[in-house]
Amino acid sequence: MKLAERMSRIGVESAFDVLVKARALEAKGQSVVHLEIGEPDFPTPAHIVEAAKEALDGGWTHYGPTQGLPELRETIAAYVSRTRGIQVGPQHVSVVPGGKPIIFFPMLALLEPGDEVIYPNPGFPIYESMINFLGAKAVPMPIEEKRGFSFDLDLFRDRLTDRTKMVVLNSPQNPTGGVIPHEDLKAIAEMLRDRDVIVLSDEIYSRIYYGAEAPTSIASFPGMLEKTIILDGFSKTYAMTGWRMGYGVMPEWLVTAVNKLMVNSNSCTASFTQRAGIAALTGPRHEVDAMVAEFRRRRDAIVEGLNQIPGFRCAMPGGAFYAFPNVTGTGMSSKELADLLLYEAGVAGLDGGAFGKYGEGYIRFSYANSMPNLMDAVSRIQKVADRWAAVAVR
Ligand SMILES: Cc1ncc(COP(=O)(O)O)c(C=O)c1O
Repeated sequence: MKLAERMSRIGVESAFDVLVKARALEAKGQSVVHLEIGEPDFPTPAHIVEAAKEALDGGWTHYGPTQGLPELRETIAAYVSRTRGIQVGPQHVSVVPGGKPIIFFPMLALLEPGDEVIYPNPGFPIYESMINFLGAKAVPMPIEEKRGFSFDLDLFRDRLTDRTKMVVLNSPQNPTGGVIPHEDLKAIAEMLRDRDVIVLSDEIYSRIYYGAEAPTSIASFPGMLEKTIILDGFSKTYAMTGWRMGYGVMPEWLVTAVNKLMVNSNSCTASFTQRAGIAALTGPRHEVDAMVAEFRRRRDAIVEGLNQIPGFRCAMPGGAFYAFPNVTGTGMSSKELADLLLYEAGVAGLDGGAFGKYGEGYIRFSYANSMPNLMDAVSRIQKVADRWAAVAVR
C-alpha cells in the first residue's frame, strides 16, 4: 500500500527526534543535559490543576461545543482584547487542542497550490511543513542576527507578490528568541493593509519577554484585525504543554471554517481542560511572573556562558526561552556540532538548520532547564571545545 503523494511533502519537528536519541544514550548510561525540548520545566500552577480536578469531579467529562466552551471563549476574548489593545468577542475565538492546530486548520482552510506564503526562516518547522504539504509555495523570510533576529523590511517588501496569500509572523520567536520591534510591525502592517492577504501571527510566547514593553501584535494596527489570525495558547505561558489546549482569534468567516475542520477531526477540545483554562486566565499571575523572572536569570547566565566558548557568539534574546548562538566560528556545520555535543559532551541542543536553511550556523539551546543544569551544559561544552578551538575565530 502506498501513502498519498502529499505525505512526501510533510515535515517533522527535530526536537522530538533529538529527544529520542538523547533518551537512547541515557538508557545506555550516558548522562545528558536536555536543552532540546521547548517546554517550561515548571509544574503547571496548582490552582489550574485544582480547577481541572474540580471539573472532573463536577462532570465536565463529555463532549462540548466544537468552537470551545462559551465561558472560556469569553475569557479568552477579554484577555486578548486587553493584552493586544484590540476589541474582539467570543465569536472570534476557536479553542483547539494546542497551538499547533491554529497553524494546521487555517492553512488547510486557506492555502491552495500556487499560493505563496512568506514565513520566518529559521522558524518553527511546522509552518514550512504545512505550506509544502498543501502544495503552496514556501517563501522564506531570513531572520537576521544582525537585526536582533528580526527581518529586513526591504527584503520583505521584495517578497510580496500578487500571489502572496499568507504571511506568518512569530514574535517572540522560536528558535531565535527575537522580538519584532513595534516600528517594524507598523511598517509591515502598512505594506499589507491594502493587500488581500492574511497574517498568521504566532504569539504563543507573548507573555515570555524581557523588554519593558510587551511585544506588539500586528492585529493592533489599523485595518489589520480583520486580516489577522492570532495564535496563542496555554502550553508555554502556564507550563501546560501536555494539556493540549490553545486558541486562535480570527475573523468570524475563518472561525466557521476552523469549526468545520474541528468537527471532522477532534469534535471538540477536552471539556475539563477548558475549565482549567478559565482558571489559568483569570487566576493569580504571580506564578507566571516568577517563571518569566527565572527565565530571565537563566537567559543572562547561559548567554554569558556561551559567549565564553571559543567559536560561539550568542546574542541576547528578547523573548521565549531559547538561546541561538552563532557557531560558525567553530568551523563545523551546526549538524556536526550538535551531534558532537550530544554524543561527546552529553548536551542535547538542536541544529539550527533544522529550523530552515537560514538557521545553518546556529544551535538552539532551550534554557527551560535548571540553573545548575545550564551551567553544567556550558562547562561540558567548554570541555570538548578543544576539538574546534584551533579554528575558532573570535
Ligand atoms: C512558535 C511556536 N508555535 C506554536 C507552538 C505549538 O504549541 P503547542 O504545543 O501548544 O501546540 C510552538 C511549540 O513549540 C512554538 O514554538
